[in-house]
Amino acid sequence: MNRTIVATVISIVLAASTAQAGGDAAAGKDKAAACVACHGEAGISVAPIYPNIGGQYANYLLHSLQAYKSGDRQNAIMQGMVAALSEQDMEDLAAHFSSLEGALKEGSLRPGKH
Ligand code: HEC
Repeated sequence: MNRTIVATVISIVLAASTAQAGGDAAAGKDKAAACVACHGEAGISVAPIYPNIGGQYANYLLHSLQAYKSGDRQNAIMQGMVAALSEQDMEDLAAHFSSLEGALKEGSLRPGKH
């Protein structure tokens, strides 16, 4: 294979993996600075009153953020947090926190692990 073909294959693979996740985890990491004070750098929260979000399914995280934004889910703190976020921001943040190992994958909350 020559270099052009290799580069093309790599960019197709990268594009496909980003599209599949819905959001861009790397971009989400940059946007997560405002979140880690409560939810922790690794998505493992700093206190029991904040949910662990690391390793949670991305579509669950995205749905939660959208629900705070629309008002379907009421919480003063989180409504303030999502107010300025775009749809793309929420997708990226969901992809980022979902990509983390978190606490959920090690615990019993995932099916098949006891
Ligand atoms: C000041 C503390 C604080 C900050 C900062 C914060 N959150 Fe939250 N977050 C909370 C609390 C408290 C809840 C639980 C609210 C509820 O009961 O619905 C929550 C809930 C959530 C949930 C729902 C989790 C679940 O299991 O249902 C998600 C997703 C989430 N936050 C993402 C984020 C993101 C992304 C950011 C950054 C943009 C962020 N949070 C910033 C306090 C915070």
